[in-house]
Amino acid sequence: MKKHILVIPGDGIGQEVTTWGKAVLEKIGQQGGHEFTFDEALMGHAAIEATGTPLPDETLEKAKASDAILFGAIGHIKYDNDPTAKVRPEQGLLKIRKELGLYANLRPIMLFDELLGASSLKPEILKGTDILFFRELTGDVYFGEKKRSDDRNTASDLMIYHRYEVERIARKAFEAAQARTKRLCSVDKANVLEASRLWREVVQELAKEYPDVETEHMFIDNAAMQLVKNPKKFDVVLTANLFGDILTDEASQIAGSMGMLASASVGDGTGFFEPIHGSAHDIAGQDKANPLASILSVALMFEISFGLKEEAARITSAIDKVLKDGYRTADIADAATDKSKILGTTAMGQKVLEYL
Ligand code: IPM
Ligand code: MG
Repeated sequence: MKKHILVIPGDGIGQEVTTWGKAVLEKIGQQGGHEFTFDEALMGHAAIEATGTPLPDETLEKAKASDAILFGAIGHIKYDNDPTAKVRPEQGLLKIRKELGLYANLRPIMLFDELLGASSLKPEILKGTDILFFRELTGDVYFGEKKRSDDRNTASDLMIYHRYEVERIARKAFEAAQARTKRLCSVDKANVLEASRLWREVVQELAKEYPDVETEHMFIDNAAMQLVKNPKKFDVVLTANLFGDILTDEASQIAGSMGMLASASVGDGTGFFEPIHGSAHDIAGQDKANPLASILSVALMFEISFGLKEEAARITSAIDKVLKDGYRTADIADAATDKSKILGTTAMGQKVLEYL
């Protein structure tokens, strides 16, 4: 198979972690006779510094011309405490999602048994959890009209959804549920929000087309609570952009660390694969970041964009073995971890390659 992959390292630890995602792609390429070619492009703070804009046209063109995109992370502390900044790194990510029509963000909460102790939640609550989030990615308050009054004292972000937007992501979630344990939980705030009432209406209608799937509706506040109370009760979770953003950060604790969670954004165009973690400037450039989420994002790329399930499984099982043999990055180490097996980014990346 011949594929062209665009690597967008982005900001902070993005460069360090995508190095290892790319290395895994190269390794599998050599092993399986696949031919992967690469290009690199700027986005986020790195792009603002170099070109003045968070998503240069050149990046977008390269993205459209590639078969898949491996992305690192975005953001810079400099903007976090400056609400008046006109240009922000995150605008690059939002724009590329919109431009590529990446309306479905898949976030699997995969639990490696060896990491049960790394979570702040009790192992017996976590064991056996396997959730697949479908977060809508190109609508909601993220893209609705933003306003600030002339006197600057009033602000609003419009929460807006169109029927077709709910329908297309809901279909993907129902189809995924059919291939899993046939349970789907749609999360909204239909007791308060009109946009959520449309959401629920559309999901209820579609549910009739998938009678084999057991469909449940839950309010976001309740879902946030149930997720830590009894995560095993969830299988496929379907939700809107903002709710999904918050809920998946919460869910990352189930997997032990944000450093373990990969995601796939798919829709009309080229698939986009990235860890759910941020740019973590506090540890950037110190060889401390966990490269496993980037490597797991590559596994998702193989499975979803290239249809290479066997290769995806090989990556996951290599990581599983690395963890079984006791190797950890600092973020997933616990009191029981052998100190000599706590690895930096580079050593962990190399370990995975070795086990592959
Ligand atoms: C995510 C991130 C982004 C989001 C930010 C960086 C814009 O938190 O992908 O979860 O809110 O979607
Ligand atoms: Mg987020």
